[in-house]
Order: sequence, then C-alpha cells, then structure tokens
Amino acid sequence: MFEAQLIVDRDFSVAPLDRRLFGVFVEHLGRCVYNGIHEPGHPTADEHGFRGDVAELTRELGATIVRYPGGNFMSGYNWEDGVGPKDQRPRRLDLAWFSTETNQVGTHEFMAWCRKVGIEPMFGVNLGTRGPDEARHYLEYCNHPGGTALSDLRRSHGAEEPLGIKFWCLGNEMDGPWQICQKSPEEYGRIAKETAKLMRWVDPSIELAACGSSAYDMPSYGAWEDRVLEHCFEFVDYLSLHSYFVKPPADTSTESFLAQIETNARYIEDTVAIADSVATRKRSTKRLKLSFDEWNVWYRARHGEHLKQAGWPEAPPLLEEVYTAEDALLIGGMLTMFMNHADRLKVACMAQLCNVIAPIMTEPGGAAWRQTIFHPFAQAARWAHGEVLRAVVKSPGYANTRHGELPYLCASVVDDAARGQTAVFLLNRSLTDEMDLSITLRGLGLARELVKAEQLHSTDLDATNTADAPERVAPQALDGIAIEGEQLRVKLRPASWNVIVTKAVRA
Ligand code: AHR
Repeated sequence: MFEAQLIVDRDFSVAPLDRRLFGVFVEHLGRCVYNGIHEPGHPTADEHGFRGDVAELTRELGATIVRYPGGNFMSGYNWEDGVGPKDQRPRRLDLAWFSTETNQVGTHEFMAWCRKVGIEPMFGVNLGTRGPDEARHYLEYCNHPGGTALSDLRRSHGAEEPLGIKFWCLGNEMDGPWQICQKSPEEYGRIAKETAKLMRWVDPSIELAACGSSAYDMPSYGAWEDRVLEHCFEFVDYLSLHSYFVKPPADTSTESFLAQIETNARYIEDTVAIADSVATRKRSTKRLKLSFDEWNVWYRARHGEHLKQAGWPEAPPLLEEVYTAEDALLIGGMLTMFMNHADRLKVACMAQLCNVIAPIMTEPGGAAWRQTIFHPFAQAARWAHGEVLRAVVKSPGYANTRHGELPYLCASVVDDAARGQTAVFLLNRSLTDEMDLSITLRGLGLARELVKAEQLHSTDLDATNTADAPERVAPQALDGIAIEGEQLRVKLRPASWNVIVTKAVRA
C-alpha cells in the first residue's frame, strides 16, 4: 500500500469539456458496417437493416459523434455510389481493404442510423482519388436546402430537409504510403486549402479538420504539420491526430504499455506547439483546435490479414482485436489525459465502433457484447460533463525509459456546476500495490454525498469478454469511500480504473 494525493480547486480550470471527446468511428471496413451495425437478416434489425442490439449498446456507450465513412476507405469512395435506389447502386472494388463494396449503406442510411442512436455525424470527403469538386458537390447534396440539381437530387431521394452535417474531415492520413493517392505536404496542403474554401462558400456554418500526420512516429510528423498548415491554417478549424497503441515485442511490460498515456500527451502538446508556431509565423492570434479522430489499442490483429485478400470478399472479418483488462486500463488512462487537454483537444474518436478494433462485437445472426474497453469509455462519457479542473497529482511512481519517472496515479476531474456534481476519474498504474488516495475538492461545496463509485479491475490482466462470457471484465462497485468536508479518502486496487461521482449537498 502506498499513499497518493489528488487536489483540485474550483478556481483552477483547464477548460469546459467538449462532449465530442467521446466520439467513435464507423468505416466501411471488414464487419464494421456490413455484418456489424447493419445486418438486415438479424432478429433485431429495423426497416433499414440496422441491428437494434448494436444501436442499444452504442447508446449505452454514450458516444456523441461518429466519423464516417473512413479511414482509408474514404480515399477511394464515390459518394454518388451510395445514394439513390439501392438496386441500382454499383458494386466496387475497395482498394483500401481489398474487399467488395456493395454500397447498400450510404449517406441516407447512415444518417438514419445516426438519428436512431442519437449521435452527431462527422463526415469525410475523398481527397485521394478525388478533390475539391467532388467535395463541394457532396456538401451541396447534403446541406443545401434546395433549388439546385444536387440538393433537389437529395430531396428526390426522400430527404426534403438538408442533412445539416456540420463536421467534415478533409481526407484521411494523406501522408501514409498505404493511402489511396498519398500526397506530399505541399500537394495536400494546397488541396486542403482549396477544398476548405469551396466548402465554406457552399455552407459557411461547417467545421473543417485538416489531416495531420497519420501517427506521431511517422517520419513525416512535424514537418508535415508545419507545411500543411502553412497552406491551409486560415481555412481550417482542426488538425487531426491518429494513434494506435502497441506492445513492441522488445518490451511487453504493462508499465511501458501504460506509459503510452504520456507519449500521447506529448503528441498533443507537440502538435499544439507546431500549430502555434505556424500562427506566430503568420502573425495570427488564431488557436487551432485538435481532433484526435482515430485512437485505440491495435497491435494483435494488425499484420497480414488486411493485406491483399483473394477473391475480393464482402465484409470479411478484419482487424477483429479482442481486448483485455490491460487494454481497458490504457483506454481509461487515455481518457483522463484527453480530458486534461480539453483546452485544445475538442474532438476524439475511438477507432472504431463495431467488430473492427472495437468496443462492441457481434456474431452474425447472434449476440452483441461489450469488449473490455467499452467500460471505461462508457463511464467517462456518462459522467464527464462540465468544466475540467486542473488535477494536481502527488503520487509515487515508476521509472520509464522514455519518460523518466511516471506517477502511478493518472487522474482527471470534471465539475458539472449545473448539477452540482463532480466526477473524478482515476487510474492506479501500480500492478502490485493498493493506493491509499486522498482527494481534495477545494471550493466545490463542503458537505458532499456519493452519487456513484465504480472500479474496473481484474486480477488477470489478460482477461477478455467473449460471446459466451461477455461480463468477465465489467465494472463493480467501489466501496469504502470516506467523505469528510471537501476531502474524500479511498483505497484503489492495483491495476484499476475508477470513477467517483459526488454531489454538493444543498443546505
Ligand atoms: O482504423 C483503421 C485504419 O487505420 C483507418 O482506415 C486508417 O485511417 C488508419 O490507418
């Protein structure tokens, strides 16, 4: 057992939390769309073929925004293929995932699914094989009220009212050699600028995200951001970050795995520094926002099987990572880190939602269940509302080769003044020792009562949830919390992710 402290003060705020930090991602990839969220023959399917059980789990997950239709898929996608009568839609080779795309789900079906689950759409335009002309046409089709060929085409497809899609990604991972029509930073920066310009002329109310490098460890990282922003800084609102957490064979320790929280914090801070240096060069006071629009653990189902497959299958099982209790700890820690960067990080999308590196898994014709990583995401999405307060952590820690000494405790605190409720999110990274934690919530009301306290902990860090044991790793009550004035005292189990929500008692 060791002692640690967490101190926050009502007056020391990071920023209001943007609820779009709890976004997800749905790509036409493997069984994410087809045989995932969409399975017409399934007993729970609705009139559009969307599974009711997956929709229900998505609501429970609490996701607020969903990126669509890719990913790499986006860079070869023709949006026109996915609208109009379904029996006239073309089947196409998808060169991103070497699959056959049937186009039975397109813009309108996906929007119907968004309405069903109550989630905001985030769409992307194809800046791989296509460009500004396609992008402005797609936006006109979606968002222009009517009276033009494209907006009237949408109306003829049954959507009288504009779809009102606000958030648009300008392509995907354009620096990646795997991308359909990879671009140099100069090529992409120019095209992103011109596309943004045209799109804003069509609909000035939209928000636009430019592609950052596809990963922090890409050789292009840094120079890419700088060069791209040199072209399009004034024209975009967000810069994207993507990160998949791995376990290198040379170091498979849980301690190093969990140190990726700090690596990604540095990724955010370095990206902010680059964006601000471009602002300085341009004599601009604008502060670009960040969209971490792909993130998750992904290292098991990574190599080989998504390379060229024989026969161009429809919706083959690809990237079906089975998550462990250890992965859930990293996801929880990442969420605390995201919250603590709420001043510049406004959007984040867990990649992806269903079957493909996903919190929700399905069996065709059968069950849908929550993977381990579902739980920290759902807890954070449910309880984090309001203002992120600066979390001061005093905790012993461990040595890490990349980051030096790291505290065992990772924490974030979000205060919902409207409800008088404060949520505290805690990761104990010690694998062996219980943490005796004192939490001081200064200035948030003297007498407090408990609203919710849960822990996610498994003695077996390799434990997984499967169709036949879907609840093996699930939150349990966190007992023994002592509250005295503005002070809470609790013992956190080793290797555990915890949520404590308290409320100021009104006199
Ligand atoms: O999420 C899977 C893939 O990872 C996406 O299509 C791509 O953007 C990234 O490389």
